[in-house]
Amino acid sequence: MKLIEVKDYNEMSQKAAEYIIEKVRNHPRINLGLATGGTPVGTYKILIEDHQKNGTSYQEVTTFNLDEYIGLSGNNPNSYRYFMNEKLFNHLDINKNNTFIPSGVAEDIQTECLRYEQLIAQHGGVDLQILGIGQNGHIGFNEPGTSFESNTHVVDLAPSTIKANARFFDNEEEVPTKAITMGIATIMKSKEILLLVSGESKNDAMHKLWNGEVTESFPASILKNHPYVTIIADQAAVAGLK
Ligand code: F6R
Repeated sequence: MKLIEVKDYNEMSQKAAEYIIEKVRNHPRINLGLATGGTPVGTYKILIEDHQKNGTSYQEVTTFNLDEYIGLSGNNPNSYRYFMNEKLFNHLDINKNNTFIPSGVAEDIQTECLRYEQLIAQHGGVDLQILGIGQNGHIGFNEPGTSFESNTHVVDLAPSTIKANARFFDNEEEVPTKAITMGIATIMKSKEILLLVSGESKNDAMHKLWNGEVTESFPASILKNHPYVTIIADQAAVAGLK
């Protein structure tokens, strides 16, 4: 894993955006894996600004998001489909038909998991996966204890994750308790991974990732076994790291 240390959230967003823009410019048909949550929002803003100012085109780009809440349709402002449209897709020249997110309202969720896994494979896999990390080490919605062999699957969200995500909802009771997520094996199949980490609340997770062992009780630790991972982390996240 290569670590790029930056000053703060803004610099992390800037560096991450530059990284992605260069890839998109060099590989216009790239398959990007995308994340939601607070961490990549600044990066997405800069991608939009760059698209508007410099004309970087996403016409031929395909995207696959990591996860979606079960029970929320794309029209629900708390769904990840809605989030991605608002924070990124609506402001780029991307073809929305090429932006894929698991459906949280599919009639048969197990079939949806299989379909999503196959869809990624049919497109030749994810070239560059953007990741955030949970305080408990989750990646996607793969909570501690998830098998490293897991493909796209249904998860019960950990109470700590529900708490952390309640900030996006009116109250904690509204946060869905289940989600559909790319599995750890799905994420590990990406050719390249860009992990973004910002803030003191992620400092403990960053320490465990950097210095801890590879264990299913800390899902992000598997990234140590991936050949091509870049971490962009700010000072608050890496403080005290050796
Ligand atoms: C988002 C996702 C999650 C987040 C993680 C960090 O699609 O899969 O793993 O990346 O929960 O969230 P933030 O960025 O809000 O701290």
